[in-house]
Amino acid sequence: MASVSYFFIAVVFIFGCCSNAQLSPNFYASTCPNLETIVRRAMTEAVIKELRIGASILRLFFHDCFVNGCDASILLDDTPTFTGEKNALPNQNSARGFEVIDTIKTRVEAACSSTVSCADILALAARDGVVLLGGPNWTVPLGRRDARTASQSDANTQIPAPFSDIATLTANFASKGLDAEDMTVLVGAHTVGYAQCANFRSHIYNDTNINPIFANFRKIGCPASGGDSNLAPFDATPVTFDNDYYKTLVGHRGLLHSDQEFFNNGPQDSLVTTYSRDNVAWRSDFAGSMVKMGNISPLTGTQGEIRRNCRFQN
Ligand code: HEM
Ligand SMILES: *[C@@H]1O[C@H](CO)[C@@H](O)[C@H](O)[C@H]1NC(C)=O
Ligand SMILES: *[C@@H]1O[C@H](CO)[C@@H](O)[C@H](O)[C@H]1NC(C)=O
Repeated sequence: MASVSYFFIAVVFIFGCCSNAQLSPNFYASTCPNLETIVRRAMTEAVIKELRIGASILRLFFHDCFVNGCDASILLDDTPTFTGEKNALPNQNSARGFEVIDTIKTRVEAACSSTVSCADILALAARDGVVLLGGPNWTVPLGRRDARTASQSDANTQIPAPFSDIATLTANFASKGLDAEDMTVLVGAHTVGYAQCANFRSHIYNDTNINPIFANFRKIGCPASGGDSNLAPFDATPVTFDNDYYKTLVGHRGLLHSDQEFFNNGPQDSLVTTYSRDNVAWRSDFAGSMVKMGNISPLTGTQGEIRRNCRFQN
């Protein structure tokens, strides 16, 4: 009896939290053989139209996975009777790229109706966005299903905040089954894209762990009051997926307070230094940690549903 329950506890411990052995790269091989081609073509068109969209879709995937798993909860629209995650603080006037996911979903439905989840489409689109901006490629395990629910309050508390310190960030990622190394690898996603003044103002005006020349330069586009939505790039090459981001951290030119926490005489300094010198190592580690992030608590089997429209439950 006792050994049976120990076995149970062991199984829950190993498989319970964050990984799911049921995801498989071949999940749609017979039911939607052109899926990856359809997604890649649509993402190629979208990135040609606007290079930043690759970054925006990558961030959507991160914000999906961190709120009760990679279940497309972030894609659900608010309605008079439903409150989703789009208007949670980290997403409101910030998360973008939903129209691209709609376009992909429409094409995928035309090719193989009611078969492919929005959660899997987002996972593939995020991967393709990275590849199109010059980043690493990886095989995406598939078979996620779509949530019928979303949680604005969980989005507010579970998505990491730009004002957090390294200990808070580390605990946040650990709660998702991602260790400190995964975290430092994944935050390198900030090699692409932009942030709004409101998210880095206090860092450039009030923090001490920042290069003062860089701080003054960023103040030009981010006044002490007003201009909240003015954009600045995370590094000098915001549409190129390279290790420049880590070089900015070593130079104390991190844009967000949270970015500079990764190089602050703290526990992540040495890995940041390594990646600032070794783009090849970072690319390879990034691919591995993205697969791990994509495994956070997926719905599988008969859980959830295959949404017909990514914005609404069926
Ligand atoms: C360490 C924890 C993290 C924090 C505190 C954080 C915070 C932020 C903030 C505040 C922005 C700017 C949003 C805006 O001003 O509108 C941003 C942008 C972005 N984040 Fe993160 N982030 C973190 C980790 C990650 C991870 C793990 C990924 C992906 C793997 C990611 C991908 C991105 C991308 C690509 C952008 C740019 C999006 C665009 O230009 O549309 N971030 N992040
Ligand atoms: C990326 O990897 C996938 C799966 O391994 C493969 O099908 C695809 O062709 C690769 N993409 C590129 C652009 O190399
Ligand atoms: C900087 O800190 C001071 C003192 O705490 C505060 O009054 C001010 O609003 C802060 N400025 C910014 C831009 O965060």
